[in-house]
Amino acid sequence: MTSFIGFIPTPIEQIEGFFDLVSLSVSDVVYDLGSGDGRLLFAALEKGAGKAVGVELNAELVRQSTEAARSRGFKNRLTFFEADVFDVKLTEASVVFCYLSIKASPALKLKFYQELRPGAKVIMEMYPIPGWKPARTANSEGKRFYLYNMPPESLREEAVRDPLIDYLNYSSSPTEES
Ligand SMILES: C[S@@+](CC[C@H](N)C(=O)[O-])C[C@H]1O[C@@H](n2cnc3c(N)ncnc32)[C@H](O)[C@@H]1O
Repeated sequence: MTSFIGFIPTPIEQIEGFFDLVSLSVSDVVYDLGSGDGRLLFAALEKGAGKAVGVELNAELVRQSTEAARSRGFKNRLTFFEADVFDVKLTEASVVFCYLSIKASPALKLKFYQELRPGAKVIMEMYPIPGWKPARTANSEGKRFYLYNMPPESLREEAVRDPLIDYLNYSSSPTEES
């Protein structure tokens, strides 16, 4: 298990950065990779998502967020797994939220590429995916958010030819584009 970062919650006033980039409907299944206290997923359900899944290493945060889901009446639509993000398949997700670390973004790239279906959306808070061109970006109270539509548009030609080579070469810094 790799902990990329401890629990640093997205401040409530900055959460809108995610929702500026995606509109949710009842057909959406939203995942948060490193779900913390569950706040992004509570907001996603309140904004119309049909189902949500949190993945979190910290057992106490999983216990607290599961309890909060029950008391908010979300029990049947929201599940929190105590797990490493790499141990949970993303095939069901239509939208993935991720606020982890600068190392996590390149490490997750191949997983996103292999598991997310065409049309799925990934929104990264603060740490963009190197080599992928964001479809859109947003700023919310000083934080930056990056939206990628799957399959992503690449910044570099070799990533189109072979995503594995692009993944292994992730160390080059990305170009940020709005
Ligand atoms: C920066 S916090 C973000 C919490 C929440 N998503 C938010 O935006 O408020 C990152 C969370 O990811 C969890 N985490 C770190 N590495 C992880 C991993 N490999 N698998 C699952 N969770 C992880 C941490 O315990 C922490 O709660």
